[in-house]
Amino acid sequence: MRYKNNKFYIENVSVNSICKLTNTPTYIYSYKKIKENILSFKKQFKSIDPLTCFSVKSNNNINILKIIKSFGLGADVVSMGELNRVLKAGISPKKIVFSGVGKTEEELKFAIKKKILLINTESESELITIEKIAKSIKKRIDIGLRLNPDTDARTLSKISTGKKENKFGLNKKDLLKIINNIKNSKYLNLLCLSVHIGSQITSHKPYEKMLQELSDTIKASKYKFEYIDLGGGMGIKYNKNEKTLNYIKYLHLIKKFLKKNKCKIIFEPGRSIIGNTGYLASKVIYMKKSGKKVFVILDAAMNDFMRPALYGANHTILASKKNSSKSKKTYEFVGPICETTDKFLSTNKFQVLKEGDIVLICDVGAYGIVLSSNYNLRTIPQEVLIKGSKIKTIKMRQTLKALNS
Ligand code: LLP
Repeated sequence: MRYKNNKFYIENVSVNSICKLTNTPTYIYSYKKIKENILSFKKQFKSIDPLTCFSVKSNNNINILKIIKSFGLGADVVSMGELNRVLKAGISPKKIVFSGVGKTEEELKFAIKKKILLINTESESELITIEKIAKSIKKRIDIGLRLNPDTDARTLSKISTGKKENKFGLNKKDLLKIINNIKNSKYLNLLCLSVHIGSQITSHKPYEKMLQELSDTIKASKYKFEYIDLGGGMGIKYNKNEKTLNYIKYLHLIKKFLKKNKCKIIFEPGRSIIGNTGYLASKVIYMKKSGKKVFVILDAAMNDFMRPALYGANHTILASKKNSSKSKKTYEFVGPICETTDKFLSTNKFQVLKEGDIVLICDVGAYGIVLSSNYNLRTIPQEVLIKGSKIKTIKMRQTLKALNS
């Protein structure tokens, strides 16, 4: 992914030639980058031999899931839809964990029927439901319990999950009580202690606190867990000057934890596997001057890519064809939707653009297409995968006909 003769290339194909085929807005992913990310994640943690379950909520395209499967990863799912999709992608049930604060009885029954590795539970009421199902089919169900470690992930407040005021997991006191109640249960086979403190974490410090809380809880429980599921959350670099997680330090902390607590580690990474593999290509429809600003009105909008509107997230924007000019005015990249938050970026460091130019919103592989909607009755973008010189459509653009059916 780089400029060659001033044209931006994803693997061996220029973005402009992709867009000639696909039109815009289009999500474009690089196979090579997905492969690189998976191999690098595996290499980082090779010495502890974890089970890595890709967090499907970050990207659920079946073709991407098939790539993920081809490198041996399992899946972390949070709904019947996701579970059904990963099974369709061929991921083994024995590599699937089911997380989430509110799984319905129907979803639990489906997961039990499919004999997945673990159902990670977050409330006493859900345990009662699982026990009821187990009794009715006379089977013991493998489960995990999620701890809320009251740890600040130091990330965007809207994607923090490990503090006591968040709805996620069980506090230590309740969790210990539950362990005591179910450790000899005929129907619940407690195998795992799980945790997930938030997303886009860029420092090892919150993980250090999380591991300490886990250690203390295990010690207090006097229970031997077969698995410890550390969730995901590893941050990526969205902008040049941002720092990223130091994996060596994180691994060192995990190894220290494992010395005291022998178990199999599970990870649930989403963003760190798929985030920087995707771009959203969009065409400049109009350039609208307004005082010192120019609104660059794109054909992509907040319904196609929500992160800036939803979390105030900053994503780099690049021109598909580079030139050496520099705009004297501030460019505000916006979509055509009737909402003030339908805005991607404001910058005074952009090259001069003109109507019809193509730009790329970067690092949209995670929580991109999955958060898209039909707001304003706009159709969902196409998705393509680039592998070398090949362009493969992995999801067709939604048609008006499909919208009306
Ligand atoms: N495991 C659990 C239980 C989770 O809730 C999540 C994400 C993950 C794993 C994966 O986390 P990751 O490795 O991707 O950070 N839509 C937001 C992020 C929401 C994350 C929700 N949970 C965003 O666009 O930033």
